[in-house]
Formats: sequence, C-alpha cells, structure tokens
Amino acid sequence: MLKTFYRSHSCNELSDKNIDQEVRLVGWVDRRRDHGGLIFIDLRDRFGITQVVTDPEISGDAHKIFETVRPEWVLQITGNVRARPTGQENEKMATGKIEILATAIKVLNEAETPPFEIADENAENEEIRMKFRYLDLRRKRMQKNIVLRHKLLQATRKYFYDQGFIEIETPILIKGTPEGAREYIVPSRVHAGKFYVLPQSPQQLKQLSMVAGFDRYMQIARCFRDEDQRGDRQPEFTQMDLEMSFVNAEDVMAVNEAALLSVTRECRPDVKLKFAKFPRLSFDDAMNKYGSDKPDLRYDLEMVDVSAECRGCGFGIFAGVLEKGGFVKVLRVPGGAEFSRKDIEELTDAAKIYGAKGLAWIKIAEKFEGVPVEKLGADLTQKIVNKVGGVKNDILLFAADEWETACNSLGAVRIATAGKLKLLAGKENEFAFAWVTDFPMFARDAETGGLASMHHPFTRPKNPADLDSDPLKAKAEAYDVILNGYEVGGGSVRIHERDLQKKIFDILQISDEDAERRFGHILKAFSYGAPPHGGIAWGLDRLAMLFAGEPNIREVIAFPKTNRAEDLMLGAPDILPAEQLKEANIASLALKPKTKRDIFSEIVELLNSRKIEFEKLEHAPVKTSAEAAKVRGTTLAQAARALIWKTENGYIQSICSAAKEVDEAKLKTIAGVKKLELAKPEEVKKITNCEIGCVPPFGNLFDLPVFVDRSLEPEKIIAFNAGEHTKSIKMPFVDFLKIVDSQLSEFSA
Ligand code: AMO
Repeated sequence: MLKTFYRSHSCNELSDKNIDQEVRLVGWVDRRRDHGGLIFIDLRDRFGITQVVTDPEISGDAHKIFETVRPEWVLQITGNVRARPTGQENEKMATGKIEILATAIKVLNEAETPPFEIADENAENEEIRMKFRYLDLRRKRMQKNIVLRHKLLQATRKYFYDQGFIEIETPILIKGTPEGAREYIVPSRVHAGKFYVLPQSPQQLKQLSMVAGFDRYMQIARCFRDEDQRGDRQPEFTQMDLEMSFVNAEDVMAVNEAALLSVTRECRPDVKLKFAKFPRLSFDDAMNKYGSDKPDLRYDLEMVDVSAECRGCGFGIFAGVLEKGGFVKVLRVPGGAEFSRKDIEELTDAAKIYGAKGLAWIKIAEKFEGVPVEKLGADLTQKIVNKVGGVKNDILLFAADEWETACNSLGAVRIATAGKLKLLAGKENEFAFAWVTDFPMFARDAETGGLASMHHPFTRPKNPADLDSDPLKAKAEAYDVILNGYEVGGGSVRIHERDLQKKIFDILQISDEDAERRFGHILKAFSYGAPPHGGIAWGLDRLAMLFAGEPNIREVIAFPKTNRAEDLMLGAPDILPAEQLKEANIASLALKPKTKRDIFSEIVELLNSRKIEFEKLEHAPVKTSAEAAKVRGTTLAQAARALIWKTENGYIQSICSAAKEVDEAKLKTIAGVKKLELAKPEEVKKITNCEIGCVPPFGNLFDLPVFVDRSLEPEKIIAFNAGEHTKSIKMPFVDFLKIVDSQLSEFSA
C-alpha cells in the first residue's frame, strides 16, 4: 500500500521474510553511529525505524554519503535486506531482525541542526517545542498520540454512523450561542459595524436540525471559547456533538454509554474498566462524598458529614460555622496518622485554594491527637470517629464552611491525599467512567448576583413547577459523563416548548427584547412543531488525553495554543496591516493602555499566588553580584545570575550561580542553537523592562525559554535582584525551579 515512486516499503515493514530482497526506503535520519568501518543509520518514517548499514568495502559511494549525513536529513536508500549478525537482533523493534545493506543513497534534503533532538523523548522547554511543533510532532510519543486521536475520531464516527446518526456540518461564522464563556468575534467587511461570533458549540444549530426532522445528528465539531486556559482546556477544541429526537435522558445516556465502551475497546483494548456499567451519582452525592462533580472513582476516600454531631460543640470554629448555616465535613484517610507537619501543611494549602480558612485534623494514634480533640471532648470525638468508621492509624481531615466551600476544599484535599498516598499507582490503565446527574438548573453568579444556567439555557428542568417556587432548587434533566477525575462530556434533554424556553430566559433576566434579538430564531422555530429532543457533547481532546495517558490536552492536539492562547509556531494572534483593518471596518483599536510593568510587584504577586515563602530585601543600589551578596548577607554562590541571550530562534535566558561562568558552547548545545550572543542592554530593556544587572531569573514572565544550570543546585536558598537594583528576593531553590518550569542542565564552567 505504501509503495510509491520513492519507496518500495515503509520503515516498519521488513522482516526476515524479506531477506535478500532489493528494497527502497525513504525517511529521516533518526540516529547515526559510526563504528569505524561500518556506519549505521536508523532511518525513520511515520511507521517505524529500519537500520541501514554501509560497508566501505561493498558500497563505497553510499558509505561516503553516510559519512556526511546528519540527523533529520531526508534520504532515499536502495539496498538489500540481510539478517542482523547473531546477538545484534533487537526484539523490541518490528524490524529488529534485519538491516539493509545500502548500495545507493540519495540525499532528498539536508536539514539544519534541530533545536532539540528528535530521537530524545525527554521533553525540554515547552515553548521551544511549541515554536517548532512540526519537529516536536516527528517524535514517537507525539506521532503515537496523533494516530491514537485519529483512531478515536474514526471509531467514534463509525459507531454513531452505524447507529443511524448522520453527520451535519454546522457553520463557524454564526451569531453567539451561550455556553458560559466569552466569545471570539469576527468583524464583517460587507456589513460595517457588525460581527459574527464563533460557536462555543453547535448547540442551537443541532437543536434546529431536530426541528428540521433529522432525528439523529452527530458532528465532530470545532468549538471556540475565550476563557482562562488550563491543562484540560484550549481556546479551540473538538467535541463529538450529538442530538436525538423523541428521547428522554435514559435514551441518550444508553447510546452514549454503549458508544464510549465500544470506542474504549477499539482504541484501548488493554484498559481495565472499573465499572462494566457506568455508575450514577447525583450532583449532590458527588459533591457530598467526593467534593467534586467529576470525582476520580479509581480510589475510594469518601467524605462524611458530621454537622449534626458537631452542632453546639465546644470547638468554636465548628460551632460558629454551623450556627451560620454551614457544614462540617470529614475525610477519613487510612494510614494518614503517619502524615508529617509538612504533609498537613501541604494539604491545608490545597484546601485554601478553594477558600477554606484552614484544615482541622485528628490523628488516631495510641490516643486521639489534634487541636479539636480537647475542645470537642472525648465523647464527641469518639462519636465522630465511630460515624466515619475511623480506626487506628487514620487521620480525619475536617472542613468547616459554607456547603460549597467545604465540599470543594475537602475535595481538593482528597485529590492531594491520593497523590501523597500514591493511591493511583498501578491504576494508570484503569478507566472509571460514571454519570453525574440531577444538576441544579441554576447557580448564583458571584459577580452579578443574578442566576446563571449551570449547563446552558436550553436545558429542561426535571420538574417545571419548581421554577415558580424556588428556581435555585430546580434540578435539570442534565447529565455529565466523567472519567478518572475529568468531565469528558455533558448534555441534557432540551426544552422544546416556546413558552417554557421564554420562562427560562425570564429567570435569567434576559429581557423580551434581548431574548428576541439573541434567540428569536430558536423561539420562532419552536412554534413550528419542535420534537422533544436531547443530546450531549463529548470533549474529544480530553478523551484523547486520557486514552493516551497524557497529563495535558496539548499533547494530543497537533497544533495547540499555549496557556496564553498563543500559537507560537505561527505567531498568532498578530497585528494586522492598517489596510486590512480598514477593510474590516475597524477604524481604530481601543487598546488597553500599556502601563509600565512593575516587575518587582509582579514577582511578589506571583510568589504569593503560588504560596511560596520568600524574603523581600531593600538595600543600597548594587551593580555586581559580589556587591549584592554583601548587602544581602548571602554567599556569591547563592546569587542567581540571569543573563539574556540572542539566538537564531529568538531570545533565551540562562540562570547560573554568580560564582560560575557560562560555558557558551555547552549552553548552545543545550538550547539547540548555533548562534548565541549576549543581548544588548537596550534589547534587555525592551524585553524585560529592566536594566541589565537587575533582570530577575523569571524569564517566563517575559515569555523567554529559561535554562537553569546545576551550579545552583547545592544552594537551598538563592537570591537575586528582582527588577530593581535596590530590591532583592531570597527564596528556596526548589520553589524557584517550580516557578520557572525548567529542568536543570549543566552549562557552567
Ligand atoms: P459543555 O460545555 O459541557 O457542553 O462541553 C462538552 C464537553 O466539551 C469539553 N470541553 C472542553 N474541552 C477542551 N477545552 C475546552 N475549553 C472545553 N470546554 C468544554 C468537556 C465538556 O464536557 N452544547 C453543550 C453540549 C450539549 O448540551 O449537548 C456543551 O458544549 O469535556
């Protein structure tokens, strides 16, 4: 199948069955090994690797070319298949029993030295990977991920096509459809002053397809949401979007459960399914038991409510919270009595991210230990221990707060605890799918104080009468499908009646006029005989991420965006020529005024937000590291010297102990660059807004790749000027490494 003008076989095809055949292969040079006489090359294409060898005695010309080739050159090899000498076979490779003795070699293209080694799978600085994504994608891991994603798309399409679903492509230039995020907008050239909006999902269009009578729709659909990015979110992402007519929630869940099982079997036949049938959890149960609406069910750890027991108790914090209508919840952690102070501090930090003020605990050791024990008294402590089923060597972790804060913060503690106790060890290949149902219809919007849809405004209430009594109590006919701690899909039965839909808009305080302007088309459509309908959308990137066992959806998206929604390879977003803006009827850009960056405050804010302990120092202006060490009372070796370099791929930052010098040759190799020169003071100022001598070692603040030298490793505490000659920061080296998100390398002399 792969035979083309250039090749007879792929690089993964030949085996001992082909011995003595003349073949022609094409591919990239993965590695080259010169063994004096013989030269070996691993030739790589998307399918695999084949070892090619030249022998000066047999194929002189080919051998001469092999002497000059470098990694990533593109070659066409003609040669004969032969068995590898005994003892040199590689069982792990499909082609490991053979090699090609080259008789002729054609260089189809040479390659510059890439900024990183393709054959080396160790991930280096992500910014460089993103900038040279086409090279990063040549790597085995990425090729595997992209092929797996293709398989997932194919298996998904096939399953639904076989069930009678038809794929309908819906437009990308539309009028906004609310899904809770900010919208991306596109100016119209023809209609001056008007805009299209990119779909956050095809929600309204698929519902309109039901009104059109298509009954079973699916689409692999691209969605766009301008929201804060996280590891499982991208500004544009892909859904398997589905809608069905004449169904209830059970019907939609049944089709999707069968589809997810089928697709999992197809793409990951090796995974162990924790539940053959997806368990159902109500939203309230999920929050009460696991402190999350997408709990990881591969491990147990459940929370218990002890509010009733603690009402009026002697422990002021609990009693106070309960008096104000709050809750006291406990997470019992078997083996947790061994947790150190530091462990508990870290768990407390996890709770605080979700608004908890602290994390009370009781250890069950020889006796009960912990601050609340005395205040609660022996009887009540025992009662609580009994209620949660506590046994010796457990720790009980308490959250006392408003319901949502107590649930969410103890939920975060649950996840952090599982990490500490390595509860997921050996469960990497286990899938725990489940349904979460009975979501509230609305939640209070913290910013506006008004009500907002939990799912979206087209979701059907379970009992429409609840809308009149207390909309906040109304439950939705909605369901999410979760997998290993992620929400991988969400949907609902929809409203198909004009009046009920109008009522929801009223509750959301969307005026008649506004509803008509924004949703007039759907309200009108509902007046022409809309069938009862419902649907769902899967987050295909998240599913692909979990199928690939990756920690981030960027690893399963060919050309993803960074956390700041940028495409570093294309350089998007970008400014546009004035002419083009004029054509799009954009007269002037209302840019937010660029305020001068206060680097010192930015660093302080960053460290505080990451809950890192550090020391701020103010001192007389210092120009050299030696002067700085003196005023800071630190050694020269503790000073982190941050230098900015200009390379052919842009600017980079090196961090090294001030007691050492940078070995430029080594840094070049590590950064994968040929050109390396110190940036000029005016360039440094332009990039960092700082004078040379006080650039902080946080190149990530300026979007620079950062390389950290091992010379700082022995220092527990490091110090540096933080944007000003008169201000320094002292902080733990380990925390510094976390902030710059860099791996250590060795480039000092
Ligand atoms: P929802 O907003 O829940 O529902 O989205 C469905 C699924 O899409 C995935 N997802 C994302 N994946 C990556 N990046 C993002 N920014 C992102 N946002 C969401 C999640 C989520 O479960 N129209 C409704 C579906 C319906 O009601 O039929 C919708 O879009 O895995």
